Amino acid sequence: MKVAIVGFGFSAEKGHIPAYRERSDIHVTAVVDPVTARRAAALRQYQNIRVYETFDDLLEEYSDEIDIIDICLPNAFHMENVKRALAADKHVLCEKPLVLNKAEYYELVEIANQQKRILYPCHNYKFAPAIVHAAYLINSGEIGQPLFASFNIFGAGFQSGVPQWQPDWRKNKELSGGGIMIDHGLDAISVAQTLFGGSPQRISAHTRSLNQAESQLEDLAVFCLDWDGKLINISLSSLGSIPKAYYRIQGTEGEISIENNDIFLSVKDQPVQHIFVPTYFDDPGHANWFNGVIDNLLDCIKTGNTEPFPLMEAGLVLDIVEKANYSSNNGGSWMGLEFTAKSLQMV
Ligand SMILES: NC(=O)c1ccc[n+]([C@@H]2O[C@H](COP(=O)([O-])OP(=O)(O)OC[C@H]3O[C@@H](n4cnc5c(N)ncnc54)[C@H](O)[C@@H]3O)[C@@H](O)[C@H]2O)c1
Repeated sequence: MKVAIVGFGFSAEKGHIPAYRERSDIHVTAVVDPVTARRAAALRQYQNIRVYETFDDLLEEYSDEIDIIDICLPNAFHMENVKRALAADKHVLCEKPLVLNKAEYYELVEIANQQKRILYPCHNYKFAPAIVHAAYLINSGEIGQPLFASFNIFGAGFQSGVPQWQPDWRKNKELSGGGIMIDHGLDAISVAQTLFGGSPQRISAHTRSLNQAESQLEDLAVFCLDWDGKLINISLSSLGSIPKAYYRIQGTEGEISIENNDIFLSVKDQPVQHIFVPTYFDDPGHANWFNGVIDNLLDCIKTGNTEPFPLMEAGLVLDIVEKANYSSNNGGSWMGLEFTAKSLQMV
């Protein structure tokens, strides 16, 4: 399959390219970026690709040499460029968040269906090795029936983009669409879905913008999801100085905790098992998680599955983010979640 990357910034260079390079079934043929230095960075990775300043130039000149458009643009540019890629009859891999609200989401789902093209949001945390292994342990019944989970995701400020464009775009609502909920919140919800399947019924949330000198967007979110009888408590903060993620899942027979590359499984009356699973949550490129994304995308293309699981999940996430805001504005009261994707199931 031939891939063109639109937006050659941090995630394209540090996440997608290292994964593509390991594969013989994907060939990067073109890159679009308006910034000369970024096109030069792409040419340092691949000497034989075409580089373009605009997406329109690429589609005009080189469309026949592309099967998949990989959108690695700042969030606010996803909608318009995904539409353009689908209109050109291409399959689309799009960085997360796919779009910024449910109206945009439903519009894109409809277009992808009409065009019979695969639209695949890059929910790569589903393929993080420690999360995949923890899901396996839960599904194997190691901790009995899961009852409670607590995720603590601590970031160090708003992540910067490449210096040659607008490195602080995440602090600007026009470009990012939101703060920590749409960034780490999306990932945490995707992790919960991977671990537990199904979908949550309601949310209670408190979001805050505490370090206003940094950004007006929310930098703290603490929310609880009522998830098919389980309670999932998620705390997100970008107020820290070292990025860290901790996940703890408690069940009737034991518990699992995940801290970066280490999983600890403690089952009642048995010694704690330490399982080393190289995952590197603290490396924001997450290059070693992308092969799972690409495998699943290629499988959807092969089977003509126009409802890839992460596409369903993207709708669920947007519903949760929207209701988190309502809940927080109403003192943390519980809000019902309406998005129950008909085909929510494990990838
Ligand atoms: N899946 C992950 O783990 C992960 C990690 C990091 C970022 N992301 C996502 O990737 C996306 C990009 O983030 P980033 O950190 O790479 O940003 P970035 O700022 O590093 O890169 C953005 C790139 O887009 C280019 N660009 C700007 N306008 C353009 C246009 N109109 N056409 C083509 N190129 C254009 C810029 O020149 C820049 O090179 C975001 O949606 C972000 O949420 C995902």
